[in-house]
Amino acid sequence: MANPERLPPTSSSLPRHGHDAVSETSGAADPISIALSYHQQTKHHLDRYARSLGYLDWASQPDPFRTFEGAMRVELPLAADSLITPFADLHTPVTVPARPLDLTNIAILFELALGLSAWKEFRGNRWALRCDPSSGNLHPTEGYAILPTLRHFEAGVYHYVSRDHCLERRCTLEASAAAELANALPGDSFLVGLSSIHWREAWKYGERAFRYCQHDAGHALATVRYAAAALGWSALLLDACSDDEVAAMLGLDRAADFADVDPHDREHPDGLIVVSIGPVSWLPRTLLVESVRGGQWTGRANQLSSSHVSWDVIDEVAKATWKPATDEPGRADNTPLPPLSSPCRTPAATLIRQRRSCLALDGQTTLPAETFYCMLDHLLPRPEVPPWDMLSWSPQLHAGIFVHRVAGLASGLYLLERDPRIHDRLQAVLRPEFLWEQPADCPEHLRLYCLKQADLRRTAQIVSCHQEIAADGAFSLGMIADFSQTIRQKGTWWYRRLFWEAGVLGQVLYLEAEAAGVRSTGIGCYFDDAFHELLGLAGNEFQDLYHFTVGGPVEDQRLMTLPPYAHLRPTRTG
Ligand SMILES: Cc1cc2nc3c(=O)[nH]c(=O)nc-3n(C[C@H](O)[C@H](O)[C@H](O)COP(=O)(O)O)c2cc1C
Repeated sequence: MANPERLPPTSSSLPRHGHDAVSETSGAADPISIALSYHQQTKHHLDRYARSLGYLDWASQPDPFRTFEGAMRVELPLAADSLITPFADLHTPVTVPARPLDLTNIAILFELALGLSAWKEFRGNRWALRCDPSSGNLHPTEGYAILPTLRHFEAGVYHYVSRDHCLERRCTLEASAAAELANALPGDSFLVGLSSIHWREAWKYGERAFRYCQHDAGHALATVRYAAAALGWSALLLDACSDDEVAAMLGLDRAADFADVDPHDREHPDGLIVVSIGPVSWLPRTLLVESVRGGQWTGRANQLSSSHVSWDVIDEVAKATWKPATDEPGRADNTPLPPLSSPCRTPAATLIRQRRSCLALDGQTTLPAETFYCMLDHLLPRPEVPPWDMLSWSPQLHAGIFVHRVAGLASGLYLLERDPRIHDRLQAVLRPEFLWEQPADCPEHLRLYCLKQADLRRTAQIVSCHQEIAADGAFSLGMIADFSQTIRQKGTWWYRRLFWEAGVLGQVLYLEAEAAGVRSTGIGCYFDDAFHELLGLAGNEFQDLYHFTVGGPVEDQRLMTLPPYAHLRPTRTG
């Protein structure tokens, strides 16, 4: 059957055009209720998909590339080929010598984090793929750099354009503000900023799009961390700053610069990441928002679509999950043992750029148990091990895994607990008949439990919106978040953080699959409550936030693959 991700699901409810759509949540008073209600409302059900237009309005397809007209451009060299750090070394980053902070290495960071990885062509249509994956390849995530004074760069704020592999200079700082910025950041470091344009996803997916934007932001966080690690650099998400501050630092709140565009084409602040060539032992306390506001700004944002459809619930949940300034959290507890070593000596830069989602899996490839356990092990957080060392929090997500073809492991439903403290709570709510047996050959520190032995290929396919890739992989999984308690106790903005963690988990799986010679695909289209029902989960204490599948790929021979930057070479070779 048609893949509902590539051909969007037809909503059984009526599409809602224009700006007069009435939200089901508009009566909800407090932010927590709004977020919980948004989540409930945007579930896909076996008999009904979350609301979307139900068809693709090609005339209003958003431009996947944001540019700022009038902003001076710094062309970046295409230098990632020169980076030969083996993928395996990313798990022991102390072994990777740090590259200097200069034009070439900043260029590599952006190329590997957010740059193009290929162009695809089919029947005269051409579209770009990127190192960061995106639901529907719609790419809501935009990337920024806030740089101190460096050779080739005046201190200021820059926006990355992946198609042109350049940084557009949005803001230059006065000498005194530049000095303040240099003092505020750890030595030899700079900031990477991320933002989301919700409309890019909403154009295709309607109300559920806000979730996908958060997944994509999570994937992008991880691609930044992996790219930095390949350069021998560290990267940490700045957890304390507010969304107001992030917006100001990236110029997203500059109404005049977005005056030519419809409000739907504006950007929503996600986060700032400190990227440093050495270990980061302290984080900036203040963000110099006023100095950056007072800088000299240039550039006007481009319009992305000729017309738009409003999805009011997205605006409401975006507002409800807007992050206030918070205390800098302590670092999380981590898995005490070193990671299982990866045998993959392929350069990380090669794996990162060859990463692809598979359109189909072969239904045959069996994974060695050792490879499977190594993949799961790399989903656990450890100090100084990317990408988890960029996040301050302990794991909030666990995995319900459909094992289909792993050598020596019975097919069935398994549970991976990424934090031992969740065990009692999960055991109390999952189906009482579950086995809770640890596989005999499983490394002891991996909290993997067989819950049920059975051939669950059909079940896995059904709960992933009938997508065959969920049955045809060696395994597929659903990510189970510690949901309502986290949001109630830590703040509504955690709704977004939970999806970010899911995106980071997904990026680990994407790269681990490439390293193991197989392939994977993120699955945002799944029937939420059907998966909950399977596990015995009732209520919203735990919620399924993302699916994933891993297996032997089947290439789509109809698609032509073209190199990512043929249009820029040879002038840009580093
Ligand atoms: C959050 C998210 C959800 C996705 N959901 C699905 C899905 O349900 N089905 C599917 O076939 N692909 C899915 N994908 C894969 C995207 O379609 C894919 O990333 C995109 O087309 C870009 O291709 P690439 O990953 O090869 O760069 C998803 C990807 C992401 C990041």
